[in-house]
Amino acid sequence: MAVDRSAFTQILAELRQHHTTGKVDIRAAFGADPQRFAQFSVTMDDMLLDWSKCAVDATIMEFLFRLAAAAGVEARRNAMFAGAHINITEDRAVLHTALRNPRSDGPVLDGQNIGADVTSVLSAMSAFADAVRNGRIQGATGKPITDIVNIGIGGSDLGPAMATLAMAPWHDGPRAHYVSNIDSAHIHDTLKGLKPETTLVIVASKTFTTVETMTNAQTAKIWIEKALGTQAVAQHFAAVSTALDLVAAFGIEKDRVFGFWDWVGGRYSVWGAIGLPVMMAIGPQRFHQLLAGAHKMDRHFCNAALPANLPVVLGLVGWWHRVICAYPARAVIPYDQRLSRLPAYLQQLDMESNGKSVMLDGKQAVTPTGPLVWGEPGTNGQHAFFQLLHQGTDIIPVEFLVAANGQEPELRHQHDLLLANCLAQSEALMRGRTLEEARTQMLTKGMEVEKVDKITPHRVFSGNRPSLTILYKQLDPETLGRLIALYEHRVFVEGVLYNINSFDQWGVELGKELATSLLPVVEGKQNADGRDASTAGLVEHVQKLKES
Ligand code: F6P
Repeated sequence: MAVDRSAFTQILAELRQHHTTGKVDIRAAFGADPQRFAQFSVTMDDMLLDWSKCAVDATIMEFLFRLAAAAGVEARRNAMFAGAHINITEDRAVLHTALRNPRSDGPVLDGQNIGADVTSVLSAMSAFADAVRNGRIQGATGKPITDIVNIGIGGSDLGPAMATLAMAPWHDGPRAHYVSNIDSAHIHDTLKGLKPETTLVIVASKTFTTVETMTNAQTAKIWIEKALGTQAVAQHFAAVSTALDLVAAFGIEKDRVFGFWDWVGGRYSVWGAIGLPVMMAIGPQRFHQLLAGAHKMDRHFCNAALPANLPVVLGLVGWWHRVICAYPARAVIPYDQRLSRLPAYLQQLDMESNGKSVMLDGKQAVTPTGPLVWGEPGTNGQHAFFQLLHQGTDIIPVEFLVAANGQEPELRHQHDLLLANCLAQSEALMRGRTLEEARTQMLTKGMEVEKVDKITPHRVFSGNRPSLTILYKQLDPETLGRLIALYEHRVFVEGVLYNINSFDQWGVELGKELATSLLPVVEGKQNADGRDASTAGLVEHVQKLKES
């Protein structure tokens, strides 16, 4: 879908010009306008997005909404939901949203009723998950399955691993373990604590060729075979893949294979069969609540006016920070221990989608594209890297996520402490502490003037550092679904503004190819002739250390 970017380019130039003279001092803006929070926050049911602590004002927001219109955010969104092949470099539709809208009369894509396909895979998953959970499906020796090991990487790992941890209060099925790394330590340490006769291995790979996953799957297969015999593989393995022939060749029974389709990208796949370990852990009913939450966010994204649209606003503010303010990174800090894998999940979602340098027309990007995304849960981060967020020379916008209620009512005071810390951090980033304030505070405490003068500059906080907060009632399956879908659509909005294809990932290819060609060199079967001096030198040193 060709988009005329001339209007966008014109508005962008005007906004850049405005930014040279119209910068907003956040702290001063709060002083000047008591309505600032109401003006720069928006809700969807209980979920609130507050971006009032970002350096924007009504004029800037007006520019941003004009840019969204000029970039064709709504037209591209509609094209995505309608099944247009917006992933142009792979000639694919992008329809992960259909996975959370399971209707047998669902969308028809290229002549195929995908609603019926989605429903049928979800039903098969539910039947299998229920049978494992209630003990009707057992291991080869007749014992119930107590542990599931999901072997997958990237999108076949991060989504379900993140969601399983997030949904811990609802976890009433078998224990779920995740193995992703090719490092033998990962599978070794995971299997070490498990019994083969009560373990089910799910091999999750869209392509069923990913070297990490297939190598770990072989290791797990040998582990089962050694303990229970070759014939036990069928009862201890299941697969999630689009490559049914390769799954069959591995020895996994047809009725234990759960499919998905090329219109679901790896990093958008937790909603379908890749979510099987989550469904086994929390049960099909709660898994459907997760889907329902995401579907709710899809409807909001499609129907809410741009200024009241959470994914649109989140995307516009993210783009503003990256392109106009030129901030290279953003921190995502969930004040929720059970969301501790969310930053890692968002790294793939965001950086694999928008870490591109070429626009849809094949030309070099004319603006910066996706930022570095990183984070850790609060309050832990406060005692580690928040120093740099408050006083470092780079400005890193922070995205705080927090629930008004925890899951442990008897420990309410701990949740209140968590909330107070979260709100305090965004307040501190915004307000800062002036030289005069720092000085007065120390003098009031009775410190000697000489010492005060020496220390004061170190105790100044510039403030005026942007952050936004996403606040919701409680982290339940429905809310998790809304949160993930919110971030998926924010990445989409930013991708449209960058004018890139957010749905391919060619950038992961080169390293994979070189690793394949380097394996025989590392194994000592080939020499490193023709390699650069650094790689050859490293290989030589490896061989020396192997022999020593
Ligand atoms: O590393 C790139 C990637 O293709 C991701 O996009 C994907 O999520 C991951 O590898 C795993 O791929 P697969 O599911 O095919 O094993």
